[in-house]
Amino acid sequence: MIRPKLVFVFALAGFFCAQLTVAFPSPQASRSESDRTGYVGDARCFSCHRQQSQSYQHTPHHLTSQLATPDSVLGSFRRDNNSLRIVDSTDQAEAQLQFVMEAKKDGFFETASSGWNPDTYQRTERIDLVTGSGVRGQTYLYWQKNRLFELPVSYWSDGHRWINSPGYVDGTADFSRPVNPACLECHATYIRALSNDPRTNRYDRESLVPGISCESCHGAGANHVRLRAAHETESKNSSHDDILNPVKFSRDRQVDLCAECHNGIQREALAPTFSYVPGRPLSEYFRQLPSPEVEHPDVHGNQVGLLQRSKCYRSSPQMSCSTCHDVHTTRQSAESYSLKCQSCHTWQSCGMSKKIGHQVANDCINCHMPVEETNVIVSQTAGQVVHAKMRNHWIKVYASARAQGTEGTAPR
Ligand code: HEC
Ligand code: HEC
Ligand code: HEC
Ligand code: HEC
Ligand code: HEC
Ligand code: HEC
Ligand code: HEC
Repeated sequence: MIRPKLVFVFALAGFFCAQLTVAFPSPQASRSESDRTGYVGDARCFSCHRQQSQSYQHTPHHLTSQLATPDSVLGSFRRDNNSLRIVDSTDQAEAQLQFVMEAKKDGFFETASSGWNPDTYQRTERIDLVTGSGVRGQTYLYWQKNRLFELPVSYWSDGHRWINSPGYVDGTADFSRPVNPACLECHATYIRALSNDPRTNRYDRESLVPGISCESCHGAGANHVRLRAAHETESKNSSHDDILNPVKFSRDRQVDLCAECHNGIQREALAPTFSYVPGRPLSEYFRQLPSPEVEHPDVHGNQVGLLQRSKCYRSSPQMSCSTCHDVHTTRQSAESYSLKCQSCHTWQSCGMSKKIGHQVANDCINCHMPVEETNVIVSQTAGQVVHAKMRNHWIKVYASARAQGTEGTAPR
């Protein structure tokens, strides 16, 4: 008799962003949950900061989590591109696990099925929440009462296709991965967890504020809005220090703000989720754990750790993420960043310029911040392995770049 091989695995939590190390809160962390009074939402900033607000709407930060809508779900529901078939190579005739993604009147759904009639197994869940703006891909989440879970099939932008969610075992249909608060701490503005256990996936659903918002980086805005509204006629440049402006933080605190989400995932939470206040030392909220990723940096999500190894950073007390990035606007072309390098270096200072001349000026980053495959975002799908590609933030001379010059044009 042919046995259906669909396995619903009950695995440990695992993420698009690989394994997150979650520990129990240490004693000093038993502070109460974060206080959300004083937060007003992005709409309130729009009237006075139209320029920042308008361009911010299109940034990956703003779009990094959304409710599922025809606009937010990037995966295809067209009949010719809405399934993922996983054939077990050991026994092709027998087991075939298939996922089908469908748009229906009442929402978007992922269905897993396998086996032969009448021994078929099937499970359908709705796509409720979208994580990822889609630069690389999107992972979908679903609600079961007040519990939040990850769905087994993700969207991958490269090739506009469906893949197994990163970290999932190929050939299984796992609907049981809990989504814990740390995941949303990096991908949303707020959600209230119903327990202090960092492994919980029970939430007050109504409390979700999707996307990263102005106040994620500027802190609660109610005071500022009230005072500024009352003094609208006052001189524009009067500073009341009623809202946080990272440019006024020390360099370390500026970088801490970005490190809240861009310093990799090997860390232990010391305080409740969503309690970090920009301007405070991040070390009060997280303890970085020693890990192979830190010893031998991988490119995923660890831009802070990598940049900090660069001579540029170590020799320039003012250099921060904002030297190159304006988070209020959408991405620039990769080449445009070469101008940032040239605010501190002349193109002639590059040894390679002796070989290939002014040509070096167009693309400093291609040689000194190469794009690499990460081993941290990996999906195994139908026997194929998909790696995410990331820009290495360790600015230095790479061996591969020396080779590039030899293929270049004649000297001088
Ligand atoms: C009623 C108008 C008004 C509203 C609403 C408003 N602001 Fe402002 N904001 C101002 C003015 C005026 C300034 C001072 C001049 C400037 O920098 O543009 C300012 C300055 C700032 C600064 C720089 C502060 C400093 O000390 O350097 C930040 C950051 C800021 N606002 C963020 C926000 C955010 C975030 C929101 C929404 C929560 C918001 N603002 C809502 C009027 C407003
Ligand atoms: C609350 C978490 C969080 C904070 C704080 C944060 N980021 Fe991000 N950032 C993310 C996430 C999540 C993404 C991926 C968004 C996506 O594509 O879904 C991202 C993407 C980016 C990108 C690539 C997309 C783009 O906009 O070009 C840049 C650059 C970036 N962040 C820079 C920064 C800098 C600089 C800071 C500090 C000023 C910062 N981030 C603070 C979470 C955060
Ligand atoms: C990911 C973090 C992040 C988010 C989200 C963010 N900002 Fe900022 N904002 C910064 C940083 C960092 C600076 C300081 C930039 C610099 O170094 O010049 C800043 C500066 C500002 C300033 C002062 C600008 C000036 O020229 O002095 C204003 C106003 C402002 N932000 C408004 C907003 C508004 C409105 C939003 C939402 C639409 C927003 N910010 C979202 C990080 C953020
Ligand atoms: C420590 C912060 C952090 C945690 C925790 C985290 N992420 Fe991320 N995630 C990021 C950052 C930052 C990026 C952007 C990639 C980069 O630049 O490293 C990202 C990228 C992504 C992307 C691709 C976005 C795109 O547009 O290409 C998806 C999807 C995603 N994460 C889903 C998740 C899910 C689901 C969880 C939890 C189950 C999670 N992440 C946990 C910070 C985090
Ligand atoms: C804020 C100023 C600043 C910026 C911006 C900057 N650098 Fe640097 N960089 C420095 C300083 C200072 C040094 C150290 C010089 C020394 O030790 O002689 C350095 C060192 C270097 C080195 C030598 C690294 C090594 O390990 O020996 C390279 C290569 C380099 N920078 C390339 C770049 C590139 C490419 C960019 C743009 C992506 C860039 N830098 C942006 C200031 C900067
Ligand atoms: C010297 C310039 C420079 C500095 C400083 C810098 N970045 Fe970047 N960053 C870049 C370039 C160049 C890219 C690639 C842009 C592209 O390919 O479109 C990039 C891309 C990114 C991305 C998108 C992920 C990717 O691989 O494409 C994130 C996230 C990011 N930076 C975060 C940060 C954070 C956080 C800091 C501060 C720790 C920082 N960056 C400092 C130049 C810089
Ligand atoms: C084709 C690849 C390539 C490009 C493009 C390139 N570089 Fe270089 N760069 C190199 C290589 C290789 C070296 C080492 C040369 C040597 O040791 O003779 C180097 C050396 C350097 C150094 C000196 C490092 C040291 O301390 O010895 C600096 C600074 C630098 N580059 C900056 C830049 C800047 C700024 C740009 C853009 C204007 C740029 N590079 C564009 C490949 C490149």
